[in-house]
Amino acid sequence: MVYLVSESDFRNRDVVGTRDFTRDQLEFIFDKTVEVKTNPNTFKDKLKGKEVTLIFFEPSTRTYNSFLTAANMLGCTTVGFQDPSFSSYGGKGESLYDTIKMFSSYSDCIIMRHPAMGSAKFAAEISNKPIINGGSGSQEHPTQTMLDMFTIREKFGKIDGLTVGMIGDLKYSRTTSSLSYALTNYNVKIIFIAPDFLQVRPEVEAYVKQKNVNFMKTRELSSAINELDVLYVTRIQKERFSDPDEHKKTKGFYQVNSDSIKGCKDSLVILHPLPRVDELSTSIDTTKHALYFQQAENGKYLRVALLSLMLGG
Ligand code: CP
Repeated sequence: MVYLVSESDFRNRDVVGTRDFTRDQLEFIFDKTVEVKTNPNTFKDKLKGKEVTLIFFEPSTRTYNSFLTAANMLGCTTVGFQDPSFSSYGGKGESLYDTIKMFSSYSDCIIMRHPAMGSAKFAAEISNKPIINGGSGSQEHPTQTMLDMFTIREKFGKIDGLTVGMIGDLKYSRTTSSLSYALTNYNVKIIFIAPDFLQVRPEVEAYVKQKNVNFMKTRELSSAINELDVLYVTRIQKERFSDPDEHKKTKGFYQVNSDSIKGCKDSLVILHPLPRVDELSTSIDTTKHALYFQQAENGKYLRVALLSLMLGG
């Protein structure tokens, strides 16, 4: 494939949000991920001598550990914390500004998860080393989107022409926000499936509209299931609700199970960024539609590819 981008476009760049990436740049990352997945040994120790910071101010299983695994595979050393209560930020009141300043002087790259919207952009403005956003509140989770889209492309051989449904807490989900932005680079139809009080945030909808992407909103999965190629399920982001009554309203609101996908295409793929709670029945796990564990595994390859491109391996 002929690209309008090259490896040098990724050197030391920040990964704050998916709107910062063109279609060609995304495809370049996906192709590099194919290389990693096909020949992982050729990436072994490619970044020997580099140091990567991981600072996570919110819990994580996949993002933290897949980045850690990726950094280890590339031969990087790592510093940071997974639990901020063991840092001076959490234990002594140090500012985020000073924390970023410190880690940018220790390492070649900072991977950060923080509950505040805008935190990754803030960090990128402070740091003289590249920042990778591992999740900024309900705003963005760009590397999750990259692995989601890689998984879709791997399955269908393309992204153009697909109808992608997103179901769940679209208001607070950073994964569906980032995915919506990134899908505007492709010729897709997006169906947002949620009750009104959890529907896609106005700024995300406005962006999708501005990019002339075909989209619709519905409350019911049943009204869309037969046309979906991809069903992207998200959990209720309990930790983001400021009003407990609003959260109570969501209880048992939806669950994707064998009944709710009746009438789906034979080729339907079900994705979920994980973790799941009760919105995705384990009865789906054994069906041919379930791709979420493969999706999570792809995160490791994608993050090897991304670190390698950014830090020069
Ligand atoms: N998908 C995802 O971000 O998972 P973690 O919260 O476990 O990192």
